[in-house]
Amino acid sequence: MPTSQPEVLISAEEIQARVVELAAQISSDYADHGELILIGVLKGAFIFLADLSRNLTIPRQIEFIAVSSYEHGSIRSGAVRLVLDVRESIEGRHVLIVEDIVDTGHTLHYLINMLKSRNPASVRTCTLVRKEHSAEVDVSVDYLVFNVGYEWSVGYGLDFAEHDRTLTYIGIVQPDDQ
Ligand code: PRP
Repeated sequence: MPTSQPEVLISAEEIQARVVELAAQISSDYADHGELILIGVLKGAFIFLADLSRNLTIPRQIEFIAVSSYEHGSIRSGAVRLVLDVRESIEGRHVLIVEDIVDTGHTLHYLINMLKSRNPASVRTCTLVRKEHSAEVDVSVDYLVFNVGYEWSVGYGLDFAEHDRTLTYIGIVQPDDQ
């Protein structure tokens, strides 16, 4: 169990302000596009998706998808594996993938290719945080809330070994603290 509260990297107020701004941008970009399908990537995107979707002013539908890209804690499995698929067909629909974090980029790269193969009208990506320096695959992030550094970020959906997901802010942990 964590022994202390993670140091604040991005406050809850800052997150909420940026989410409202981003929702306004997305609402404007997708005006006149019909219903947007927001696909949240479990588990990490569940809080971000909830807040983002409630601030949109356009017709929208919520779907979830789950993939597995890490072993327990910080040890990577390497491959990306589909664990849970969307329920609805996305053919001919506008899709926005909503992620909590883009780290190496493998997960988003996999999801973009998989969803594009289903002939949607469009696929764009939205992520809460992106680790600027750890990209291994070049993926396009259309809507980004925050860039972060090398630190291990937790909170607002992000976890370290399943801890600290429900913090209202984004904090930093040192793996040794856990
Ligand atoms: C995290 C995160 C992204 C992925 C990004 O998922 O939610 O989906 O890693 O990493 P990448 O850019 O290196 O591929 P994780 O497997 O930790 O699952 P979780 O969302 O359930 O915490």
